Amino acid sequence: MIEENIILNKEIAKIAEVAGYLWQRGWAEYNGGNISVCVTHALRDDEKKVPAISPRVELPVVMSHLCGDVFYVTGTGKRMRYVSSDVWDNGSLIRISDDGSYYEIIYKNPVRPTSELPSHLSMHDYMREIGRDSRVVLHTHPTDLIALTHDTHWLDSENITHMLWSMIPECRIIVPRGVGIVPYEIPGTMDLARSTIKQLKNHDVVFWEKHGILATGADVVDCFDVIDTLSKSAQIYLTARTAGFIPEGMSDKQLDDLVVAFHLEKYQK
Ligand code: 13P
Ligand code: ZN
Repeated sequence: MIEENIILNKEIAKIAEVAGYLWQRGWAEYNGGNISVCVTHALRDDEKKVPAISPRVELPVVMSHLCGDVFYVTGTGKRMRYVSSDVWDNGSLIRISDDGSYYEIIYKNPVRPTSELPSHLSMHDYMREIGRDSRVVLHTHPTDLIALTHDTHWLDSENITHMLWSMIPECRIIVPRGVGIVPYEIPGTMDLARSTIKQLKNHDVVFWEKHGILATGADVVDCFDVIDTLSKSAQIYLTARTAGFIPEGMSDKQLDDLVVAFHLEKYQK
């Protein structure tokens, strides 16, 4: 029985925890943000095969690496503060068909998935294809990070990554592959999805210009922490600017020393 599945319930509890943080942080105005987590590993075979509770919905492209996979996905138009208090009223489990061409809702209520499903599933599909252990896509609207994307200087992966890293050592350590930038696209479109997966080749975190941030990873709490750390760096930068000075930032040598000390990957644009 799905409702008694302990592994699934642990995953769901973490999603509820993170949804609460997104609201508390002020990153989730109205229905802002969405979460998808692959939970196939948590389900027994009979649980994966339960009858659908919605009609089939064709996917805009075939997700050939996600055939038969099951995801918890937050619902479109749903508020993070309510995802936190009632996960199943504000999201559902969807199952990708065996040929990857459509999905059906299988549990618990027929809550229609986020409008950003094309981006989420394209990202999961790509990560599966390249064998990256990332079961989570977390999208949210952090005020400070979005503010930076309103300045063309920061719409450059190298510029913004270096600035954010140099505000605090933890940022270099916690976001070792830096951030990718996607120029503005209409939310929910395949164009946005395609541009996003290009950035995943070298990054685990992607900024959508004038819109929001996506973090990918193995664990939803870790994804939150990554965005929280980037937001901390942005706050240090913007606080200094508000106080009337340009923050010095850590030197290149100080940043490079962290690469050696913590065995970090080198940044690739
Ligand atoms: P949904 O309510 O469809 O998830 O959309 C919210 C959002 O942030 C769009 O980018
Ligand atoms: Zn959004």
